[in-house]
Amino acid sequence: MAKNVAMVQSWTNTFYYPSSSSSSSLEGRKSMEYGASGNEEKWVGAGDCEEWLEREDAVTYSRDFEKDPVLVSGAEQEWRSCSVGCKFGYGSTSDKKPDALFGLPHDDSGAFSVLRSMESSHYYPENNIDQARRKGYNIVMTTSLSSDVPVGYFSWAEYDIMAPVHEKTENAFAAAFISNCGARNFRLQALDKLEKLNIKIDSYGACHRNHDGRVDKLATLRRYKFSLAFENSNEEDYVTEKFFQSLVAGSVPVVIGAPNIQDFFPCSGSVLHIRELKDIPSIAETMKYLAANPEAYNQSLRWKYEGPSDSFKALVDMAAVHSSCRLCIHLATRIREQEERSEKFQKRPCKCTKGAGTVYHLFVRERGRFELESVFLRSGELSLKGLETTVLAKFKSQNHVPIWKQERPKSIRGDDELKVYRVYPIGITQREALYTFRFNGDDDFRRYVENNPCARFEVIFV
Ligand SMILES: *[C@@H]1O[C@H](CO)[C@@H](O)[C@H](O)[C@H]1NC(C)=O
Repeated sequence: MAKNVAMVQSWTNTFYYPSSSSSSSLEGRKSMEYGASGNEEKWVGAGDCEEWLEREDAVTYSRDFEKDPVLVSGAEQEWRSCSVGCKFGYGSTSDKKPDALFGLPHDDSGAFSVLRSMESSHYYPENNIDQARRKGYNIVMTTSLSSDVPVGYFSWAEYDIMAPVHEKTENAFAAAFISNCGARNFRLQALDKLEKLNIKIDSYGACHRNHDGRVDKLATLRRYKFSLAFENSNEEDYVTEKFFQSLVAGSVPVVIGAPNIQDFFPCSGSVLHIRELKDIPSIAETMKYLAANPEAYNQSLRWKYEGPSDSFKALVDMAAVHSSCRLCIHLATRIREQEERSEKFQKRPCKCTKGAGTVYHLFVRERGRFELESVFLRSGELSLKGLETTVLAKFKSQNHVPIWKQERPKSIRGDDELKVYRVYPIGITQREALYTFRFNGDDDFRRYVENNPCARFEVIFV
C-alpha cells in the first residue's frame, strides 16, 4: 500500500497527454496516458490524474433538484429534511408536471407510477412485485426488501427497541395479542397445539381470549418471558409491529410469519421460529428449557445489554430516512440515470492510465443520501479491500456523520468512528444489498469497474 502511494506520488510529477495515439479501450471515450514510453507525448502541466478526472468527468446535469424538486402527486407529506429536493401534493398546483404519481396513470404524461402499500401480498395480490409491474407500476413500495423503495414496519423512532428488560413476573409462559383467529397460515392450529403441550398462554386478543384485552400492550408484554408474534401470513419480509413490539418489551418473540425472519433477528438465538406445525413440539421444549434456566433465558436477551448485531442495525437504520424521501432519492437517481445515457456523459473518461498504472474514477454515497462523492482507486488498490479503505478514508476526511446518527438509541450510537458494513452498486435492492449480494472476489469487482465506467456505489455505515 505505502509503496503504491509513493509510486503514484512520483507519477504526479510528470504528466503527459498522448497527442494522437490514444489507447482507449472504450469506444468513443477520452482516455489519458501519461509517462508512457511513447514518443509523441505532450506535456500537459500541473495536476494529476485525479484532478484531471475530476474536471473531465464533471458534466453537469440539466436539472438542479434544489431549484426544481422531485414532484410527486397523489399524497401529502410533511418534510423534516431530505437530501434531495422533494415535494408531494395533489394535482397540479403549478404548471410543472409531476415526476411520479401514486396509482396507475390516467394519461401518458410520462410520470412514474408508484404503488405504495404495507399489506401482505397474500391478502392483496396486487402488492406482489411482479404482478404490480405487469399492471404497469414503475415503482413498487411494499414491505418486501426486494421492492424498489421498501416500506417496513420498523424504525428506531417508532419503537424503543433498546428499552430495558423488565422482570418476568407472570406465571404463564407467553402473552398473545391475536385479534383474528382466521388467517392464511397455521397460527390458530399452532396456538391449540402449544396449549396442548402445556405451554400456558395468556391471550388478550379476540382469538382464544382468556384475559381482558383492555390493557397496555407493551406494559403487559414485558412481564412475560415469551410473546407470540404470529403474523396473518408467512410472506418474505412481512414482519409487523407484533414482532417489533415483542423486541421493545424484551419478551422473546415466538414467530410464525416471514420464512426469512432470521434476517430480522437482533442477534442469533434471540427469537424462536415456528416454520411449520411439526416444529411445535421442539419449540415447546425450548420454551420450557429457557423458562427453567434463567441464565440461558437471559442469553436470548443479551442483545438488550450488549447491543444488536450489525446486520440488525443496518436493517433498521434504513428507516432513519422516511420512505417518501427515499422515494424521491430513487426518482432523482433514475432521472439522472436517464440523462447519463446522453452523449455528453458517455464521453466522460472515467479512468486515466499511465504505463502499468490506471486511476479509476468511482462515485459513492451513503445509503439514504442523494449526492455522490468522487473516489479514486489506483489499479493497485482495485480490490474489495481497496474500495472499502478508500471509501472510509473519503468519508472520514469529511468528518461524515452517518444519516442514522440522531435516530438510533443513544446506547447503540457508537463513538465517532465510521464502520463500513456494505458497499454495493447503486440500483440493487435492499434484499440484495443487505443479504445476498457480494462481489465474487476481487476479479469480479475489477470486471465490474471496467465494465461500468464511473461506477456508482452506495455505502452503509454501522
Ligand atoms: C442478564 O445478563 C446481563 C448481562 O448480559 C446482566 O446485566 C443481567 O443482570 C442479567 N439478568 C438476569 C436476570 O440474570
